[in-house]
Amino acid sequence: MGLHRGVSIVGAGMTRFHNKLHIDKTGRELFVEAALDAAGSVDKGFSFKDANALFVGNFTSDVFEGQGHTAAVMADWLGINPTPAYRIEDACASSGAALNLGAITIASGMADVVIVGGVEKMSRLTTDQVTDALALAADSSFETSVGFTFPSIYAAMASSYFKKYNTTWDQLAAITIKNHRNCILNPKAQFQLDIIATGKKMGEKSGRIFKNEMEFLRSDLNPVIASPLKLFDCCPVSDGAAAVILASDKVARKYTDTPVKMIGMGQASDTIALHSRPDFTTLRAAVKASEDAYKMAGVTPKSIQVADVHDCFTIAEAIATEDLGFFPKGQGGKAAEEGKTALNGELPINPDGGLKAKGHPVGATGVAMAHEMFKQLRRQAGQHQVNGAEVGLIHNVGAAGASVAVQIYRRG
Ligand code: COA
Repeated sequence: MGLHRGVSIVGAGMTRFHNKLHIDKTGRELFVEAALDAAGSVDKGFSFKDANALFVGNFTSDVFEGQGHTAAVMADWLGINPTPAYRIEDACASSGAALNLGAITIASGMADVVIVGGVEKMSRLTTDQVTDALALAADSSFETSVGFTFPSIYAAMASSYFKKYNTTWDQLAAITIKNHRNCILNPKAQFQLDIIATGKKMGEKSGRIFKNEMEFLRSDLNPVIASPLKLFDCCPVSDGAAAVILASDKVARKYTDTPVKMIGMGQASDTIALHSRPDFTTLRAAVKASEDAYKMAGVTPKSIQVADVHDCFTIAEAIATEDLGFFPKGQGGKAAEEGKTALNGELPINPDGGLKAKGHPVGATGVAMAHEMFKQLRRQAGQHQVNGAEVGLIHNVGAAGASVAVQIYRRG
């Protein structure tokens, strides 16, 4: 299996991810902002009218904004009617799946240029309402009906992981610390404070001084959300959009001399309900999707020099780095603790701050990861640039791993 025609990213853009900044904007306005940013990044110029199709990853603008038929709305607002527009909904992996389908459409010969974007405007609802809306992606018969939410589902994974590998929450805290150190180098990230600065700010409010990052993270100012996960183990609620322009090998050089080639992709599914799975410490769909992507790309996990993985909760990053073959089972958290996944480590993970600190407007996340790879592999990532990366991987998870999209990119 493989792509019958080569596909590259020739432009990428995104809004800043945030929970308050975009409060007065609609999802469609965010989407247009991201698409204009992507068009503006194309070295030799790009008009939306060049696109033969539009793919939009979106989880639920229906619930978050009271607006369905999202792809048609976005096509209209980009001014590209009657270009075909498709909405893809795979929970938090919606735009990772949209990337795969956009590339498949080019590889099939049906298109030479497609715009793939993702958007979610979540902040109109209260946290409780957002939690209920997100829970639509869990199993309504066996999980949400008995009170499970996404924090509690990932908390069950964390408890199982600690027991199986005899590890502790300290390893998850190392992931929080790393991702917050990275986010302050990324102007598009929601959080712009590392944990030292956060501890100082929150400590001042309550007249306390924290000696270091761990002391703050262990304190009651980092409350339990779903034991053993605390506030800073969770991604926040975010608004935002991201967009990339994909082009066939035939036309890519018309747009840029440095395209970023998609050399491998995978997509896999699993049972939605966590309790039906034999092991909570691995996502089978991530293992399968990445195996397929490695095979198509003709590379191994050792070839990957930078990765954006789906850290909706810190435990998810530990598990992802194992499922993707970067570290042995049970060693993902330890790798973060030892600095192996830091910006200057042996395999930088989430140099943009990850979902934890960059933010997670769910439908936008997969394409935002592709935006990050486009910048990283073209040496345009600014202060969070990973030195010399030629091959990068992105891993976008729907809910608790019932759908997973993976892509591997190489500097063109
Ligand atoms: N990490 C760090 N700080 C966070 C945060 C997070 N995840 N979420 C909120 N905060 C901060 C806010 O910035 C705010 O600080 P400020 O007053 O200085 O601006 C403060 O905590 C209160 O914010 P608020 O939005 O009222 O928090 P909340 O208690 O309502 O929500 C969570 C906290 C963790 C419940 C919410 O962020 C959440 O549900 N996250 C998970 C989202 C999710 O499940 N996504 C899908 C994954 S599959």
